[in-house]
Amino acid sequence: MSGAERIRVGFVGCGRIADLQCLGYLAHPRAEIVAVCDVDRALAERRAAEWGAGAAYDRLEDLLDDPAVDAVEILTPHHLHEAHARAALAAGKHVSLQKPPTRTLAELDRIAAAARESGRVLRVFENFMHYAPHEKALELVESGAIGTPLSVRLKTAAGRFGDGWEVGPATQAWRLDLETCGGGPTTFDHGYHCYHVAQRFVPAPVERVHAFIHWTKLGDNAWIDGPALVSWRYAGDPTRYGSWEVIASLGMRVRSKYYVSDDRLEIHGSEGIVWVNRCTGKLLDEPPVVLYREGETRAFHDLEADWADSFRRGGVDFVDALLEGRAPAQTLDDARETLVFALAAGRSARECREVALDELRDGREG
Ligand SMILES: NC(=O)c1ccc[n+]([C@@H]2O[C@H](COP(=O)([O-])OP(=O)(O)OC[C@H]3O[C@@H](n4cnc5c(N)ncnc54)[C@H](O)[C@@H]3O)[C@@H](O)[C@H]2O)c1
Repeated sequence: MSGAERIRVGFVGCGRIADLQCLGYLAHPRAEIVAVCDVDRALAERRAAEWGAGAAYDRLEDLLDDPAVDAVEILTPHHLHEAHARAALAAGKHVSLQKPPTRTLAELDRIAAAARESGRVLRVFENFMHYAPHEKALELVESGAIGTPLSVRLKTAAGRFGDGWEVGPATQAWRLDLETCGGGPTTFDHGYHCYHVAQRFVPAPVERVHAFIHWTKLGDNAWIDGPALVSWRYAGDPTRYGSWEVIASLGMRVRSKYYVSDDRLEIHGSEGIVWVNRCTGKLLDEPPVVLYREGETRAFHDLEADWADSFRRGGVDFVDALLEGRAPAQTLDDARETLVFALAAGRSARECREVALDELRDGREG
């Protein structure tokens, strides 16, 4: 779409994460949010007023009929992603689709086919890849600062509900339902970020995964998928493993302006280690990134470490990609590999066995 002067965006779904997803479009000098849509009409009108959008709709068809909309930002529950993305592409709009893109590979493949047919841009949005401390860590790893990356270790600590952001019952309800979410709120929905991180920091595909996922009862008909322990093996030589541990520390206060989730990352190489000490939350007053090599530690303080900034940067990347006629940061193949990984971990836990990602890559979805 290079040659366009401005990108005019329509939001579909104006719930919790819209608070952050709007940031890039509001910040970009050549973008604007021109229309919003939510089945909750009052919410759509409130968002339109907040963002200066001229139109508020409660039916997707009406937003897609609006010729002022060039690109659609889809922020609806996962079971609606396929229908919403395909309708937007068929209407000739570019699409930004929140992670996880879909519940199944078949759904994602149908969206990808629709994107090819329409000639419009489809990007899957995974914000951790735009988080400045993660970008710094990747730059260090790729520059050889830790030698050959040998292991990726992630840890997520879920904290006490009620601290941090208010997450309303409607926002929680569809996530706690496997049919509408596609997997657990932690190990599938949040997990998509972690699996993507695991894939980014080692330049080899993930070959096999094993997962223990325990479901903790929170109340009547409410369960959360944690604690969990997911481990995997990367393909090729040298032998490399990764792991992601989820702790359901539901009595602990996690300092956070957003979700009560502390996410830590350690990349261990043949000559050094890089740590990213925060992401969604801010548990400790540590530097966001620390490098160890040759007996010395080096701290990187001068980074924008507020989690919200990753959404701003991700929005800016999508607009720039459309203006410049280039691909957005996350390619569809990359997004598909992450979905394969997430689904393989879920299958491993359900079937109590190690799962080769090829089982899913070649279409045996289950
Ligand atoms: N990148 C991240 O870290 C991150 C964080 C949170 C959510 N998300 C993703 O963003 C999406 C939305 O999550 P959320 O937490 O904001 O959920 P939410 O439930 O708060 O918001 C969803 C909104 O969609 C609206 N909606 C439902 N059906 C609709 C329809 N047919 N047409 C128009 N609107 C409809 C609902 O009324 C609601 O306002 C999900 O894909 C989720 O995984 C990503």
